Amino acid sequence: MLRVCVCVSGGGTNLQALMDAIDSETVTNTQIVRVISNNKGAYALERAKKKDIDAVVVSPKDYENRELFNDALLQSVDEAKPDLVVLAGFLVVIPPKMIQKYEGRIINIHPALIPSFCGKGYYGLRVHEAVLARGVKVTGATVHYVDEGTDTGPILLQKAVEVLPEDTPQTLQRRVMEQAEWIILPQAVNMIANGYGKDMRDK
Ligand code: GRF
Repeated sequence: MLRVCVCVSGGGTNLQALMDAIDSETVTNTQIVRVISNNKGAYALERAKKKDIDAVVVSPKDYENRELFNDALLQSVDEAKPDLVVLAGFLVVIPPKMIQKYEGRIINIHPALIPSFCGKGYYGLRVHEAVLARGVKVTGATVHYVDEGTDTGPILLQKAVEVLPEDTPQTLQRRVMEQAEWIILPQAVNMIANGYGKDMRDK
């Protein structure tokens, strides 16, 4: 059984997609053992509590400095004893010591086709605003392993989504979520839960 810790900051629709996929057995051999948010108001926490999943807040506001927050975040992850950490809209820079400790066992969902529209400053609606400003006709989402860079780790899955002429950042974000994110994130977890990339994790 793959033990999964999901880190969130906002609405939690990707978390919801993963929980629903586990319930419908589209995703197998997987248990979400903890949801961690840096934002105590994150609706994602309510989604976890409704499923009786351990939901905890580790907020930078509760720590004197970033180092103490980073230590508390890593401690909260360690307590869950996860095989995999899933960043689902987690707007926190992952501390290097956490990346080293969980090398090959942290994945992130990004709402664009990496290497386009990614890196520092590209998150949430900003991604879709940049997509529309550039005038690309196809965008999508990417699941990738997390390394010490920003959106630079090995790519696991991608799914393309058409950009429509009448799109706003909001309509495009919604379509990328519905047609890409909520599909490839559960798919990636299922792949890992059933053996994909095991050599990476066991090295
Ligand atoms: C999604 O657009 C995701 O791609 C990005 O942050 C947003 C999180 O949305 N990383 P939600 O909290 O999963 O609804």
